[in-house]
Amino acid sequence: MAMLAELTHRCPLACPYCSNPTELLAKETELDTGAWADVFRQAAKLGVLQLHLSGGEPASRRDLVDLVIAAREAGLYTNLITSGIGLTERRLRELDDAGLDHVQLSLQGVTSAMADRIGGYKGGFDRKMHVAEIIADIGFPLTLNAVMHRENLDDLPQTIDMALRLGARRIEVACVQFQGWALINRAALQPSREQVETAKRTVARAIETLKGRLVIDFVPPDYYSDFPKACMNGWGSTGLNITPDGTVLPCHAAETIPHLQFEKVTDRALADIWYNSDAFNAYRGTDWMPALCQSCDRRDIDFGGCRCQAMAVLGDAAAPDPVCRKSPGRAALDALLDEEVDAVAAPEFVFRR
Ligand code: FES
Repeated sequence: MAMLAELTHRCPLACPYCSNPTELLAKETELDTGAWADVFRQAAKLGVLQLHLSGGEPASRRDLVDLVIAAREAGLYTNLITSGIGLTERRLRELDDAGLDHVQLSLQGVTSAMADRIGGYKGGFDRKMHVAEIIADIGFPLTLNAVMHRENLDDLPQTIDMALRLGARRIEVACVQFQGWALINRAALQPSREQVETAKRTVARAIETLKGRLVIDFVPPDYYSDFPKACMNGWGSTGLNITPDGTVLPCHAAETIPHLQFEKVTDRALADIWYNSDAFNAYRGTDWMPALCQSCDRRDIDFGGCRCQAMAVLGDAAAPDPVCRKSPGRAALDALLDEEVDAVAAPEFVFRR
């Protein structure tokens, strides 16, 4: 199992595709060091192996080193998901001493003009490049998380080159998924079909030529797919998220499903929430599925797709994911795609604030 710990919603960047909810939690609501350490111990007992320390920007937490120490003491593999802003050489070396296992560095663009525009933070790109050098110097295993969309997907070859230059072992070419702030900005972020086809060819070529040097994972923009993504590997199966105030979620966007109620790890034991809460059992397994998914030969491959996407596009979290070609909701998704991609000009970004 893997757990995403959103340590804070605070972040110096303002990316318009941030997966955080549009209602951000304030610093005062955040779990303190001791409460997080308790969550990590409970998670390890539950069967979590991998802990993704995320945000917001996790470096905004002054106690980040102590949190890594607590997670390692609990026996968890620790991955820091960061923009790099807020990490100094001294802090990175302390994180290394604390036992941090892996760093995942986000990339907003391959030029300062693009990266600083998307991140809404002047000088962010140069600082990130400096942080990347220190990461390489220390020798952390590095994944570059390149978030791609309409404005930067054409820079994919340069993005892959950058991963090589920075000494990354892996690059995640992650096309924006439309939840959180990205949903508000969907029309501005949605790439065209031509961009997507070119990107697929670029990725396929790079996978061949860089075999053994760089692992490339491609997360396609799923509105262009024929079948849905196996979101969270199935609801409540192998992953969970904890928000800054300790709310336990089956996925990062689950709070967009209005009829579900979520509980806090400060009120109820993590294992009890995982096994017994209504929210985790709502779409677990296959019993909840509509007949179309129940009878489909892909039932145990994509698990009916993404519940939050069904909610966002169709207003029904129990409907088949509208990405699926077999879904009656596909027409609604195609109409959105036509309308937004064919628009004469993309709308301005609404930056995360
Ligand atoms: Fe919630 Fe996919 S993001 S199920």
